[in-house]
Amino acid sequence: MSTIVALSVLVAAAISGAHAQTTTTVAPLADQTYAYSALPYQVEPIGDIRGNQVGYNRCNSSTETQDSLCQTLIVNTIDDFCLWSSPKENDTIGVSEAYEVAWCAKHGHGTRIMPAGTLQGVQHITTPDYIMIVGFIDQTQVNLAASDYGGELDPHGADELGNPMGGVVYSNQYPSGNTDNSSLSQVIEWNEFIGNNQFCIKICNPSETTPTNVGLCNNVYDEVGISYNCPNSAQKGVFEVCDGDSMTPIGQYVSDGVTTTWTQPWSGTWTVPYTPTVPASSNCRTYASTDLYTSNSLPTSSASGSGSASGASATGSGAKASGSGASASGSSAGASATGTSGNSSGAHHVIVSGLATVLGVGAALAFLA
Ligand SMILES: *[C@@H]1O[C@H](CO)[C@@H](O)[C@H](O)[C@H]1NC(C)=O
Ligand SMILES: *[C@@H]1O[C@H](CO)[C@@H](O)[C@H](O)[C@H]1NC(C)=O
Ligand SMILES: *[C@@H]1O[C@H](CO)[C@@H](O)[C@H](O)[C@H]1NC(C)=O
Repeated sequence: MSTIVALSVLVAAAISGAHAQTTTTVAPLADQTYAYSALPYQVEPIGDIRGNQVGYNRCNSSTETQDSLCQTLIVNTIDDFCLWSSPKENDTIGVSEAYEVAWCAKHGHGTRIMPAGTLQGVQHITTPDYIMIVGFIDQTQVNLAASDYGGELDPHGADELGNPMGGVVYSNQYPSGNTDNSSLSQVIEWNEFIGNNQFCIKICNPSETTPTNVGLCNNVYDEVGISYNCPNSAQKGVFEVCDGDSMTPIGQYVSDGVTTTWTQPWSGTWTVPYTPTVPASSNCRTYASTDLYTSNSLPTSSASGSGSASGASATGSGAKASGSGASASGSSAGASATGTSGNSSGAHHVIVSGLATVLGVGAALAFLA
């Protein structure tokens, strides 16, 4: 352990834990299990103090517009996956976490489509315990402000209704859990980090229920971002599919031969006592992005005209298909490794220094369980 990571978190008044509320009627999102073909219109029709589920879970060709409020997210392959992001233009993850919708790289899931040029470097890694898709993104193409340093999404949250509320995830990579004749199985434990023009979505194997598995999709290390939660070697401009070893559970590290578990504090100023290690990967195959994302040039007329539910705004964005390759804020692995992030809107400000040796996508993303 040669590099010290000094990660000072200046925690503003409202911290995730302070959002906690008790309710007796809650139906935890992680308990809502359905065959893909049997999904109800909404899996969390009864909300709470945060409001109601904004979108819907039954998604089909009629919901596949740039105004879609589909909250069923598919994670299959490097050319066929979706990310949670805002339905409202120029939003932030901190503001939109409860009502985010699926943005997909490929047509066919009843969702919004990531415009051409959104994905700027992607690594898809299959490990024994989880599949992770991580990389670089022009986040303005999925409605995030260029300056947004982002946050974390998962099926829990203080009220257990999930972020986004009612958001469910399916994959064709775990067929043994498939309970209908679609190729999709529900993924119970997952998390996503997005912001600072980087993203990671990780799905844990739903047929494993071991503590290790839960630990790998843990959602209580939200302040330390992608480099800790999704250790990876993704590079800007590179699109690759690899096999890999599973990561060490987040927070666990070895010091002087002793395995120790660090837990992220909920307040105060603290330092992470270890640097994450990128697990070994192998069998990497690289692709041209133009071969992977051939179908996401959007027809400019498809966005308008379709209504939006629940006031989540019609952001008709067919026009966004232009500008491929343009990177809004110039963030890169190098920049984020040494940068200070977060002097804008949100509740928590994260300052990272001394991360220069961390390769790949490594932003310090802020907050929110
Ligand atoms: C398509 O999805 C919408 C929104 O969930 C739903 O109202 C509609 O019934 C679905 N159509 C079909 C044919 O399933
Ligand atoms: C986006 O939002 C930021 C504040 O979050 C604001 O400074 C900026 O002007 C907005 N950009 C556009 C294009 O509306
Ligand atoms: C799946 O397909 C088989 C063969 O077509 C059929 O017998 C079975 O009922 C289907 N199962 C479901 C859950 O739809």
